Amino acid sequence: EKGGFASFMEKEINDQPEAVAQTLLGRAGLDGKLELDELRIDPSLLKAVDKIIVLACGTSAYAGQVAKYAIEHWCRIPVEVELSHEFRYRDPIVDANTLIVAISQSGETMDTLMAVRYAQEQGAKVLAICNTNGSTIPREADAVLYTHAGPEIAVASTKAFLAQITAAYLLGLYLAQLRGNLFSGQIRDILADLGKVPAKIQAILDDADRIKKLARSMSDARSVLFLGRHVGFPVAMEGALKLKELAYIHAEGFAAGELKHGPIALIEEGQPVFVIVPSPRGRNSLHAKVVSNIQEIRARGAKTVVIAEEGDTAVQAYAEHVFYIPETPVLLAPLLATVPLQIFACELATAKGYDVDQPRNLAKSVTVE
Ligand code: M6R
Repeated sequence: EKGGFASFMEKEINDQPEAVAQTLLGRAGLDGKLELDELRIDPSLLKAVDKIIVLACGTSAYAGQVAKYAIEHWCRIPVEVELSHEFRYRDPIVDANTLIVAISQSGETMDTLMAVRYAQEQGAKVLAICNTNGSTIPREADAVLYTHAGPEIAVASTKAFLAQITAAYLLGLYLAQLRGNLFSGQIRDILADLGKVPAKIQAILDDADRIKKLARSMSDARSVLFLGRHVGFPVAMEGALKLKELAYIHAEGFAAGELKHGPIALIEEGQPVFVIVPSPRGRNSLHAKVVSNIQEIRARGAKTVVIAEEGDTAVQAYAEHVFYIPETPVLLAPLLATVPLQIFACELATAKGYDVDQPRNLAKSVTVE
């Protein structure tokens, strides 16, 4: 059942092209129009939404943080992302025009279920993005958009994460279509770019030897930092979470812009730092800013491992190691940039002799609050 792989996690990392492809499948017509009748929610309700709150935990919350950038950009609706267990204890502002998007692989996470119930009591509609058919959260939600990643067995979430981002993007595009925020040609183009993602993930998987080798060479690391900006920020946090839960190494993800506000004090000789570099083709100056962050930490002795877009030669001068991901529009980059980080954590934990499918102290679904 592991399909020839040493662990479910490795198999699930390799399932990712299929997980994204299946999640896209059948949801856009040939004309590029999104068809999400399966949501079975009155489109006029969705049109009236004036705020979205994403509720989730762990990796699923990072998927929500990625989606925030895309949905706000496409739909001009404010999106908050909140950890489910924080949400209902802070007297949140929720009403009938608030759409709650609950993201959960298992559909059984108690913290998220309780947050969903609370939001419904306040009059909000809940749309679940879930990977497990018929589980509790989608059963109680007002609408469901399933991720079609297939069963995820390993405790660490991998393919569900990419499928959650994909599904949340479909939702964002659907809202933009309903509300007229994007032209149909724009939606068609974004869907076409999404359609190219599975082959690009496959290219990263086919070229994993170098990152695996690096992982094995770093099995003595005591702390690893991850920096990212814009959509690369949640990717950095996801990379850190994978390393914590699988390899039991202290790891932290930061927003690269935050470096000079404190975290740069952590940098000393030999400190490994992963940097997720935004595309140099982006229209803002983020690429240059992150490259100068790499320079700053390198000057203080950091061992820099850079994830950058193919063709980005500017990073080479300051990086000990560069791993390239295929070109893709900025908002889709998390679907690619996450993959080397998953491979890194899986390989490093395996090199340390740990069971990557069943990390200590963790359960696949957390059914207690
Ligand atoms: O089933 P869920 O998506 O609701 O689970 C949420 C988290 O418990 C889960 O993502 C957890 O953080 C994973 N172990 C991360 O790899």
